[in-house]
Amino acid sequence: MIPQIKNICCIGAGYVGGPTMAVIASKCPHIQVNVIDINSERIREWNNSNLDKLPIYEPGLSQLIKRCRGINLHFSTEMKSNISKADMIFISVNTPTKTKGRGAGKAIDLKWIESSARTISLYAKGTTIVVEKSTLPVRTAETIKKILTTSSNDNNTKEEKTFFVLSNPEFLSEGKAINDLTNPDRVLIGGDNDLAIKSLIQIYSKWVDKGKILTTDLWSSELSKLTANAFLAQRISSINSISALCEETGADINDVACAVGSDKRLGKLFLDPGPGFGGSCFKKDILNLVYICNHYGLEKVANYWQTVININNWQQKRITDLVVQNLFGTVSEKRIAILGFSFKANTNDTRESPSINICKDLIEEGAILHIYDPKVEYEKIKKDLNSSDLISNNINHKEGGWIYSRNIIDAASGTDAIIILTEWDEFKEINWSKISNVMRTPSWLFDTRSICNIHKAKSFGLNVWSVGKGK
Ligand code: NAD
Ligand code: UGA
Repeated sequence: MIPQIKNICCIGAGYVGGPTMAVIASKCPHIQVNVIDINSERIREWNNSNLDKLPIYEPGLSQLIKRCRGINLHFSTEMKSNISKADMIFISVNTPTKTKGRGAGKAIDLKWIESSARTISLYAKGTTIVVEKSTLPVRTAETIKKILTTSSNDNNTKEEKTFFVLSNPEFLSEGKAINDLTNPDRVLIGGDNDLAIKSLIQIYSKWVDKGKILTTDLWSSELSKLTANAFLAQRISSINSISALCEETGADINDVACAVGSDKRLGKLFLDPGPGFGGSCFKKDILNLVYICNHYGLEKVANYWQTVININNWQQKRITDLVVQNLFGTVSEKRIAILGFSFKANTNDTRESPSINICKDLIEEGAILHIYDPKVEYEKIKKDLNSSDLISNNINHKEGGWIYSRNIIDAASGTDAIIILTEWDEFKEINWSKISNVMRTPSWLFDTRSICNIHKAKSFGLNVWSVGKGK
């Protein structure tokens, strides 16, 4: 008989766990959903009565939280009771790149996965379906199974515990998480137990067409997630590499992307040039793919995927270089407005944002940056740049530092240049007449996302560099 799921627990209340469980709770009112996390501050924020203060900004998320929280969606730090009453447990914890030891800088650090599995084995009761939601190296399910079975034996409980492990990678993209979750291109479920797979299908089929629910074995499911991210990132490195060639040859990257993407086999999406991909996943997942390939002796395959990261690093670096070069070879003591700090629009997430390296490099070169982002708060920028801003530090530096700005005009005032680093809608509509009046001349616009009306900006006297636009 297919196990009927009445109680779900999700370990990890992050960018995936929070939104995914909010959608499951809203689509399955008959299921109680408990999201647990070791980070009590994060849980406190999820329970904040002020919905503007949730730990994650995602369009549509606060409405779902308002609707379900306290009814069938709960956020807590309480592990034992929430795990023991769950029929199904999603593991949605972070899986960053290892920073030390074997495989440092490449392999995934599985310590949070391992500790989740150990906690489950300790507190779970009866039959439990454990679902890998985190992105994991292929064959991690084997490790999880081993931990679940061996440590539940170690715990010496008399009670019989049974675990089924499924892989159910998440394909949502930030800024569009709720839409991606409610309207997925596909749901992927890997497993080796039909009944467990069917019980997860039952949940998704409350709102996803059965034809979009794909089932595979565990290893294909785990590897599909890494491969999907590698292919997506590869497209960005491909278009960014061609953006540099456009700048040299006089071609226009947007026209090239449109012409190339009109071929149905290639498709139009994911061909926007930019300052390089950011976000918590592309880099770590490709590094992991490279590590796995090397582990299996597939050096040529590893090298092939490594170049996707190499081009991405090069794109970020070349943007700093050309800003410095165009500002007469030095940015020392110059003020520069940075528009956008999140790694993409519609999120407050800054993990691996290209803005971080570009800002650090420019500060190192002596520039004073006026940083404005519609959703990223001061504290986050301070943490990412590893330095307080000049004003709160009471430092009257002439060079090398940053200031937090509250809007575009505030950021642009007194600057020699504006650099657009994130494609927020409000940057597409900048009033260049107003902006040009508050900047120092000669003033520059560097549009790394190719989103501004450069003819307008030029007509108000700005010099313009836009990614992938020939001279
Ligand atoms: P995150 O860092 O935002 O959240 C992970 C949470 O897990 C943190 O709050 C952390 O405190 C908690 N945690 C860690 N160990 C724990 C434990 N033992 N018990 C309880 N809580 C614990 O990470 P995220 O962005 O949500 O990503 C989670 C996973 O999903 C990663 O594997 C990532 O690759 C994958 N993923 C992320 C995205 C995305 O857009 N961010 C999309 C698809 C897949
Ligand atoms: C990405 C994938 O798109 C998701 O399918 C996946 O689930 C997720 O990674 C994950 O595994 O974490 P995400 O990183 O949230 O999602 O955002 P994307 O929209 O993929 O953007 C990633 C980066 O690429 C951003 O910096 C973005 O600005 C950049 N990008 C994206 C471009 O430069 N050009 C594009 O055409 C698209």
